[in-house]
Amino acid sequence: MKITLFVLSIYILVHYIRAQTDTLKLLHVFSRHGARTPELKDTYPKDPYKLDTFLPMGYGQLTDLGLWQTYKIGELLRNRYDSFFENISSPDMIYALSTNYDRTRTTGFRILSGIYSQSPSQKRWPSLIPVDFEEASVDFFLQRPNSYCPAYLRELERVSNSKVVLSYVEERKTLFGYLTNNTGKSMKTLQNVFDLYQTLTAETTMNLTLPKWTRKVYPGEITKVAIKRCELENSTPLLKRLNGGRSLQMVLRNMLRPNKEPKLFLFTGHENNINNILFAMGIQEPHFPNYSATVVFELHSLEIENGTEFAVKVVHINGPDQNFVVKQLKGCDVLCPLNKFQELTKDVVPVNYTRECESTKNLDA
Ligand SMILES: *[C@@H]1O[C@H](CO)[C@@H](O)[C@H](O)[C@H]1NC(C)=O
Ligand SMILES: *[C@@H]1O[C@H](CO)[C@@H](O)[C@H](O)[C@H]1NC(C)=O
Ligand SMILES: *[C@@H]1O[C@H](CO)[C@@H](O)[C@H](O)[C@H]1NC(C)=O
Ligand SMILES: *[C@@H]1O[C@H](CO)[C@@H](O)[C@H](O)[C@H]1NC(C)=O
Ligand SMILES: *[C@@H]1O[C@H](CO)[C@@H](O)[C@H](O)[C@H]1NC(C)=O
Ligand SMILES: *[C@@H]1O[C@H](CO)[C@@H](O)[C@H](O)[C@H]1NC(C)=O
Repeated sequence: MKITLFVLSIYILVHYIRAQTDTLKLLHVFSRHGARTPELKDTYPKDPYKLDTFLPMGYGQLTDLGLWQTYKIGELLRNRYDSFFENISSPDMIYALSTNYDRTRTTGFRILSGIYSQSPSQKRWPSLIPVDFEEASVDFFLQRPNSYCPAYLRELERVSNSKVVLSYVEERKTLFGYLTNNTGKSMKTLQNVFDLYQTLTAETTMNLTLPKWTRKVYPGEITKVAIKRCELENSTPLLKRLNGGRSLQMVLRNMLRPNKEPKLFLFTGHENNINNILFAMGIQEPHFPNYSATVVFELHSLEIENGTEFAVKVVHINGPDQNFVVKQLKGCDVLCPLNKFQELTKDVVPVNYTRECESTKNLDA
């Protein structure tokens, strides 16, 4: 009896963790890169850690921990969607796209390695699946829209100079002054503090001891300001539409023709790629995404009385030491019927991105 119960609970547990995969038709995975060294542009003059601390990787590169985290995310995806992955018959059916950074391209490769390493018949796949990318000058999808979407930039500047935001900064004058003094770098905007947050977090994650002055303000206040900056980028319907809505547009387009290949779309990028999607869907909780945080869109084909119906499930995992958390769109079930999902996100999904961005370049080529 006890043994039966034990076996039964193991069975339930395994199935619970594995999630329902026999109805799964298509996956979209968006991941932030793993832990990294600081970026040169975010460093500050009084930082005790200089380039030599970050060698041999150099600036802005994955650390050993980052390599491990991204591989682990791949393994966790494999565990969750094992039979779905096992059934994919050819590496051609997987599409991986990254921003043009070493750390995000390597993240793509590491996630694929984690997905496939334990599968005898698919062991070689990671080396057969190119992680595609566009040059920064023509990356109109994963890269922040600041550089190519004039309407987005204008709106972002408008809200950045709004009374609410200016008084938010004004109220933190002492903090900004303290940071300016101690970093040797002018700290005037949310973006300046966001950049500092990135550096301090990268260094903390490398187990480097931060200077004493940081104790009063990090993680604490600095993290709050960095999160505020992420919120700002998504603080109006227009910003959501031109930011995360762009990703939703792509996901929806693929989900509306689910019998076409590929079966897995893997997108590797940055904290904004995770944040913006969550904001666009209205399911963001205030936080700064961890390294290798991941959002997954599962498309299921469900049997209903008079036929089949497609439904979307959104899952979030905030790094490899966390659990998958199912996210529910307001007004929909966990398995949200595709047409309902489309309806609920209609206002934040661009119809013609080029036109809405008021871009003279074609962003939809
Ligand atoms: C994998 O293929 C088997 C055999 O065709 C099928 O029974 C199973 O439902 C498939 N699983 C998925 C996730 O597609
Ligand atoms: C910054 O340094 C200046 C000059 O030493 C000093 O007058 C000022 O009070 C400092 N500000 C803060 C916020 O620490
Ligand atoms: C940092 O220290 C912790 C605790 O000792 C350890 O588990 C972790 O692996 C270290 N991380 C790095 C990047 O060395
Ligand atoms: C990731 O985020 C969670 C909160 O969701 C936090 O508790 C955890 O410590 C973070 N992990 C890392 C590795 O930063
Ligand atoms: C199935 O029936 C429901 C309720 O009658 C209807 O709304 C839906 O359009 C039908 N679906 C198909 C695929 O016929
Ligand atoms: C999108 O808008 C642009 C600029 O107005 C236009 O040239 C293009 O034809 C439109 N695309 C579609 C698919 O309607």
